[in-house]
Amino acid sequence: MSDVVLSVRDLSVEFATEDGVVHAVDKVSYSVKRGETLAIVGESGSGKSVSSLAVMGLIRGNNAKVTGEVHFAGQELVGLDPEEVRKLRGLQMAMIFQDPLSALHPFYTIGQQLVEAVQVHEKVSDDEANARVETMLDRVGIASAKQRMDEYPHQLSGGMRQRVMIAMALINSPDLLIADEPTTALDVTVQAQILELLRDLQKEFGTAIVLITHDLGVVADMADDVMVMYGGQAVEQSPVRELFYQPQMPYTWGLLSSIPQMHASSLKLDPIPGTPPSLINLPKGCVFAPRCTYKDKVADGLCLSERPNLLAVTDTHAARCHMSVEQRADVRRERNIGKVN
Ligand SMILES: Nc1ncnc2c1ncn2[C@@H]1O[C@H](COP(=O)(O)OP(=O)(O)OP(=O)(O)O)[C@@H](O)[C@H]1O
Ligand code: SF4
Ligand SMILES: [Mg+2]
Repeated sequence: MSDVVLSVRDLSVEFATEDGVVHAVDKVSYSVKRGETLAIVGESGSGKSVSSLAVMGLIRGNNAKVTGEVHFAGQELVGLDPEEVRKLRGLQMAMIFQDPLSALHPFYTIGQQLVEAVQVHEKVSDDEANARVETMLDRVGIASAKQRMDEYPHQLSGGMRQRVMIAMALINSPDLLIADEPTTALDVTVQAQILELLRDLQKEFGTAIVLITHDLGVVADMADDVMVMYGGQAVEQSPVRELFYQPQMPYTWGLLSSIPQMHASSLKLDPIPGTPPSLINLPKGCVFAPRCTYKDKVADGLCLSERPNLLAVTDTHAARCHMSVEQRADVRRERNIGKVN
């Protein structure tokens, strides 16, 4: 049996707006295996959240168009009856959102919401559901779980709310968890605890995780594979070691440039000069060209006239750049990018 839990092919998301069509996600493909973690990194507005919401069937509205394929649990989710997708959500796939308050209902207690999450998918008694919730809250490190169940979201600290979200996401032992910046709002100590918790629970349940993050330290610690997004496209994809040691794409070089060593504890992305492209008027050539300092290395102004394809560098590594593999290796050597020791 294949270990692949989620397989996404050519996923695109467009929004029709008054200003024109927003190409939020453009033909993104990836897969995640049981017990493994794929990290999605990229600047604000690069399409990380939208691509994940599309996988979960949460892009709605008449102005939105989702195309491509999302294979999960033996089914094709794009175009599937929303009710069927809803059944999968929370049971076999779950999401931790960027903002935990937006996912927790302010008027219901933590206990009520978690019990509901269990009972909506499974006919179990109140007593059993309550017991399961208490165990899960305990598992995510919430002390005095029984008492906490009677509290409302606003009574909890940010870190506690995030733990409740994780408990809610994992209470039905989903095969797939999408975690969108699960620790961004938290202080460093709590961040580390939450990530360790996610890793432990992943080991226990064999969950496949898609982890969206700005933090390359988190990527190095948590991920097996990485997808770098820029302007709605995947611009580089590879196993995590290859991305850190042999990055291929100038945008990735920019992201990595501030990293002194692979396992530094918390490395935020250094801002790259310039601004991300408008997703309504994407450049004709390479989407990164307006900010790329290497485009002169490519002949005939190709960077400005032709969109590079995502091409394989090795069996497991692909990048979107007109420079040849040799040219990129030269630049890495010259600039000391991604050096091995
Ligand atoms: N409903 C919508 N209508 C129009 N445009 C949208 C809609 N939802 C998202 N977008 C646009 O899609 C693009 C991608 O957004 P997305 O939220 O995926 O970015 P992101 O990579 O998650 O950024 P961040 O790191 O800030 O969370 C953005 O330009 C956003 O403005
Ligand atoms: S294709 Fe050209 S502009 Fe784009 S990243 Fe490569 S060198 Fe830079
Ligand atoms: Mg986002």
